[in-house]
Amino acid sequence: MVNETANASVLPGAGAGLQEPDSSGDLDPTRRGEATRAFEDFLRSRIVGQDAAIEGVTEIYQMFLVGMTSPDRTIGNLLFLGPTGSGKTYLVEVVAEALFNNPHAFIKVDCGEFQEHHEIAKLIGSPPGYVGHLQTQPLLTQESVNRWHTETLKLTLLLFDEIEKASEALWQLLLGVLDKGTLTLGDNSHVDLSRCLIFLTSNLGASQMSAVIEGGMGFAPHDAVDDRDLDAKIERAAMEAARKKFSPEFLNRIDKIVVFRTLRPEQLEQVLDLELAKVQKRIMDAIGQKHFTFRCSPEVKKFLLNEGTDPKYGARHLKRVVEHRIVYALANLVATRQIAVGDCVSITLKSDGTIAFSKVGAAAGMESSAG
Ligand SMILES: Nc1ncnc2c1ncn2[C@@H]1O[C@H](COP(=O)(O)OP(=O)(O)OP(=O)(O)O)[C@@H](O)[C@H]1O
Ligand SMILES: [Mg+2]
Repeated sequence: MVNETANASVLPGAGAGLQEPDSSGDLDPTRRGEATRAFEDFLRSRIVGQDAAIEGVTEIYQMFLVGMTSPDRTIGNLLFLGPTGSGKTYLVEVVAEALFNNPHAFIKVDCGEFQEHHEIAKLIGSPPGYVGHLQTQPLLTQESVNRWHTETLKLTLLLFDEIEKASEALWQLLLGVLDKGTLTLGDNSHVDLSRCLIFLTSNLGASQMSAVIEGGMGFAPHDAVDDRDLDAKIERAAMEAARKKFSPEFLNRIDKIVVFRTLRPEQLEQVLDLELAKVQKRIMDAIGQKHFTFRCSPEVKKFLLNEGTDPKYGARHLKRVVEHRIVYALANLVATRQIAVGDCVSITLKSDGTIAFSKVGAAAGMESSAG
């Protein structure tokens, strides 16, 4: 049986979730439906270097689209481990964008906010009679869980971020949710979570992973074999830390554990291009703003990469450098009307190593891009 979402067009231009089989009679169980392929392509166009994570989400999505996920539990439970700034939280945002055209279309439970036992009330409400009952709207109600559902896509993305910080009360709650796909609120009503795709992230083992990264990367040139070796060591460090901290009953409820990889210099280069393109899009989307384009010379990109590469902080540091070096300066140029509609700003590196902004002709500006 195929559920109602099977023919959903989840992405612009995506086709049905089902495809005609090969006429020869031979079957290819690795081929994916058109909608799933479009979904996967979208993730790959945004997320650099995390193929195992993309694969894991795509497999579950394909099962969901043809109605083959288990009916009495959640759609899937994925645990993301790995270094900071490697794309764990970002992947959920990109999935939300792929499915709902909105990177914020998911529920995020920041486990760090629920470290005290009583704070669980913020999530599920307090029992009748308790102080605060009826005063605060719990985060996880049926209404909030269904909030992003559309006619064609009844799926909820639910993220528990940084689960290593969760209190014992939140752990107990999580175990139930992952197992049965239902949640009992403080007032004893039930929330159906069977249409939730659950993501759990943790940078458990971060210090062990940093030690591996620092030992393995340094400044010495390294090749693909070194990289694979480093990834294997990071994976081992993360899995060991996870097994120490998380009980077997928790890990048994997870469909897939993915250890995110440390982003390599050439991958950070791709992330930089994506980040610069995002800045350009922000400029284009800004309502009432003066639209303009900008382009960075290769030397500027190298400069940003140099300054923004810190293996310990991954892409997050690079993003910050783009913000400080490029976005702040462009904002000043707009605010002081030094840039007008149709202008192209050329960003280059001066001989003294500082960044220079100059305006090139409007015609050139229309042709250029952030890249
Ligand atoms: N693999 C990636 N591909 C593209 N962009 C990335 C990738 N990883 C990180 N980024 C960029 O860096 C930002 C920070 O990444 P993210 O928040 O996902 O880190 P994280 O892995 O969740 O780290 P933490 O464990 O500290 O929460 C993202 O918003 C995104 O812009
Ligand atoms: Mg995160």
